Amino acid sequence: MSEPRKILVTSALPYANGSIHLGHMLEYIQTDMWVRFQKHRGNQCIYVCADDAHGSAIMLRAEKEGITPEQLIANVQAEHSADFADFMVDFDNFHSTHAEENRELSSQIYLKLRDAGHIATRSITQYFDPEKKMFLADRFIKGTCPKCGTEDQYGDNCEKCGATYAPTDLKDPKSAISGATPVLKDSQHFFFKLPDFQQMLQTWTRSGTLQDAVANKIAEWLDAGLQQWDISRDAPYFGFEIPDEPGKYFYVWLDAPIGYMASFKNLCNRTLELDFDAFWGKDSTAELYHFIGKDIVNFHALFWPAMLEGAGYRKPTGINVHGYLTVNGQKMSKSRGTFIKARTYLDHLSPEYLRYYYAAKLGRGVDDLDLNLEDFVQKVNSDLVGKVVNIASRCAGFINKGNAGVMVDTNAAPELTEAFLAAAPSIADAYEARDFARAMREIMGLADRANAWIADKAPWSLNKQEGKQDEVQAICATGVNLFRQLVIFLKPVLPLLAADAEAFLNVAPLTWNDHTTLLSNHQLNEFKPLMTRIDPVKVQAMTDASKEDLTASQTDTGAAAPAGNGELAKDPLSPEIEFDTFAAVDLRVALIVKAEHVEGADKLLRLTLDIGDEQRNVFSGIKSAYPDPSKLDGRLTMMIANLKPRKMKFGISEGMVMAAGPGGEEIYLLSPDSGAKPGQRIK
Ligand code: MSP
Ligand code: ZN
Repeated sequence: MSEPRKILVTSALPYANGSIHLGHMLEYIQTDMWVRFQKHRGNQCIYVCADDAHGSAIMLRAEKEGITPEQLIANVQAEHSADFADFMVDFDNFHSTHAEENRELSSQIYLKLRDAGHIATRSITQYFDPEKKMFLADRFIKGTCPKCGTEDQYGDNCEKCGATYAPTDLKDPKSAISGATPVLKDSQHFFFKLPDFQQMLQTWTRSGTLQDAVANKIAEWLDAGLQQWDISRDAPYFGFEIPDEPGKYFYVWLDAPIGYMASFKNLCNRTLELDFDAFWGKDSTAELYHFIGKDIVNFHALFWPAMLEGAGYRKPTGINVHGYLTVNGQKMSKSRGTFIKARTYLDHLSPEYLRYYYAAKLGRGVDDLDLNLEDFVQKVNSDLVGKVVNIASRCAGFINKGNAGVMVDTNAAPELTEAFLAAAPSIADAYEARDFARAMREIMGLADRANAWIADKAPWSLNKQEGKQDEVQAICATGVNLFRQLVIFLKPVLPLLAADAEAFLNVAPLTWNDHTTLLSNHQLNEFKPLMTRIDPVKVQAMTDASKEDLTASQTDTGAAAPAGNGELAKDPLSPEIEFDTFAAVDLRVALIVKAEHVEGADKLLRLTLDIGDEQRNVFSGIKSAYPDPSKLDGRLTMMIANLKPRKMKFGISEGMVMAAGPGGEEIYLLSPDSGAKPGQRIK
């Protein structure tokens, strides 16, 4: 055996202002499976993470909830930790960036960069909210698009026409926080001189640290030339104050990656045999990997290695980038119930179903991964329940009844056990390369062979024949040994199944190398079902509950949230529509000039409506609520004026009036506040 490797692994630090969802889980599950594989193989592998607790979004959310940022991040950390634990994501440490270790390391790294001449200062002019007394990041400024004139657009781009611009280009700018008109104000900022590291980055990004697709993207940025990076923010800000610069704070993305080091440092402080410098020192021989999503590549593959280099630390061995999760082929959507929180999933389904599904679909590339909920049910049921667990359940009963639970020492399929042994290096290579999909394919290929062999031997028929009992015992002992091999191969993905299998097999926790041995003359424990099929009803319940989550969170947070993730509140019951679809509806204030019965119609009233420049004839099914139609005369209501005219039995209806309520007597015609004029558009 070669020397065990020393490996430090991180996942990106989740923001402390929101819940973990299944998109996040793609990253944490992937990392956890890789870490478990390394530990399974006997390497020293340490997995650290933390909540990313700084920034103005967190400050503002705490303010809105009426608590301190410290309380907010403590609450969220408890929630995040429970979600991860229940998904079997086994961090060696889950810390916070708002911690003393991080303050010290961030200050120290900054001072090293400053003293080496890598920090520049200059004044920049920015919008400032005179009421909140704070500078406004682009996403906290709204106004009218300078290009197409659409109102209510964010400070850096227009959702309508796609134009990008500076916040100062917006017409009629407003603070999204207070509504005040922002003023321009100067302030001194601190910049990290990234161009100082152009050469180093050119080499480092091409030295096997990145997937090809990522390296190519970075090469475009490098070719375009690097810019200095603004690392400071003015008070009020929730973060660390910059040493020697009162009122100036580190931008959240400066201290976030340092949070990886800080979490590890915190672990070292509690663990005698762990040495911080052995992992982070310039001459460290340990491996260091960061698992991240494709949206944060620039921070990890440019700024971060440059900071480490400039401050005298080692650089990462690799940045492992994954794509985004889609659900049923589309971006996760609250209205479709596919924006699924980790907790909502756990309320309905076992974590291992999702772990397996992600593994089965995760390659080493940066492509997006689709969680197709039908395929999810089908694949998990057929592979895990139908193939893997099935082997054990087919064999266990015969050993229990026929031989008091003792596996005999005959190997009835030496060729098959040989093939399983021979497959191990390739499966290990696939795990090592993060090609989980290939690992799962190869393991399921073995499971298919084992099942085919057992089906062919048919111990259930042999058992009915006289004098075949030894053969039955040999077949079933072999089957259980094959099952055990599969469990060893699957253990990084399915730690719970592995623990239950170890209990049934009556063995110590299995490690990778155990696949080279077989059990013989071995007493088993009672067999309990190891995994049940996914009931599609539960998947439906999960998506339904995800829609309910939305309603709950709307009432929780009250008014519109400062669009942290750009999602606006949506009606959970209706499908989403594009703004354009809404804007295409011509809603008008209408005066009911005359309301009258229609000869021969028992539900309809005929309304003559004035919409300013014209009169419309509209038939409306509101008679049950307004038996005396003349009472409606002279009243204002609202109508859809550009509905395609419809030919009815009694004439043509040219539009539709708007009413609420279930029907019958309970129909309530909507009306505008007094002062509205017929024909005015409703926006
Ligand atoms: N706080 C930063 C990371 C700082 S690391 C020094 C951040 N946080 S995040 O909560 O927005 O995202 C955490 C990780 O989850 C990121 O790697 C991100 O790419 C990943 N994902 C977030 N949504 C995702 C999907 N829908 N699909 C896959 N990964 C996703 O970024
Ligand atoms: Zn525009």
